[in-house]
Amino acid sequence: MKHLLTTAELSVEEMNDILEEAQKFAEGGSWQPKKQTFVANLFFESSTRTKSSFYMAERKLGLDVIPFETSTSSVQKGETLYDTVRTLESIGLDAVVIRHQDDQYFDELVGKINIPILNAGDGCGNHPTQSLLDLFTIKSEFGGFSGLKVAIIGDLRHSRVARSNADALKRLGAEVVFSGPEEWFDEDLLKYGLYEEVDEAMQTADVVMLLRIQHERHGVGATNSPEQYHREYGLTIERERRMKRGSIIMHPAPVNRGVEIADCLVECERSRIFKQMENGVYARMAVLTRALENIRGGNKYVIAN
Ligand code: CP
Repeated sequence: MKHLLTTAELSVEEMNDILEEAQKFAEGGSWQPKKQTFVANLFFESSTRTKSSFYMAERKLGLDVIPFETSTSSVQKGETLYDTVRTLESIGLDAVVIRHQDDQYFDELVGKINIPILNAGDGCGNHPTQSLLDLFTIKSEFGGFSGLKVAIIGDLRHSRVARSNADALKRLGAEVVFSGPEEWFDEDLLKYGLYEEVDEAMQTADVVMLLRIQHERHGVGATNSPEQYHREYGLTIERERRMKRGSIIMHPAPVNRGVEIADCLVECERSRIFKQMENGVYARMAVLTRALENIRGGNKYVIAN
């Protein structure tokens, strides 16, 4: 059984292996389970990309996806997360993908659930598959990570994407810097890189990684109007013109157009925002096969390119 809960639990070698597998899938490689394999996607928090991308990855791998919607499940009757997952395990599922609003929701499952749990985002904690697809996008662009400067900019305090990427990128050899409103800076991030003024960060980075303002996690009295945020911390048309030659723009999306990034830059030449979404399918295929390869001694690669 191989859970994927955080990037921190993956060694550099494991991350590189996953990126290599993702590359094989991007080139048309395929995989099939040797026997019928069942998975379910449990999204307790809303999602478009991660949910659809996991579904697509699962279907491409020939897995049987068991429908599960929190709105029509016994979660509505008060059933706990543990009882929900334990039930699905008892019924015969081989793995579960979970997104949940609570940080570290998986702590109550690990050691008690015997099928792989793939974390599709926990509160403000971690988003390991987003990080892996971001790493895959960066590696596809630059060939590696050593010597690259990655500026992660925006709502750092509430971002599970920032935390997962900062950890992974630093260990893979990139320089990581952070920028955005100081009141949203999280001092825990200093172990991965320094805080930099926004114009300096955007002009000197190879990768400008913008973060969504997570309004749903802000309390009352949140700072900055959208216009003020865009002017002070967003990727404006003027700032894009001053970006380093060859540098790229990333954003995990959904994008607040005209706030974190000027509307017209979302699909500009430097932008890899929709490429990230495409790459998410390959990264999730790699993660799923890694988790499922040894379940009940059954699954192995049978085809690769
Ligand atoms: N990037 C991301 O996690 O998007 P969704 O919330 O739409 O899944």
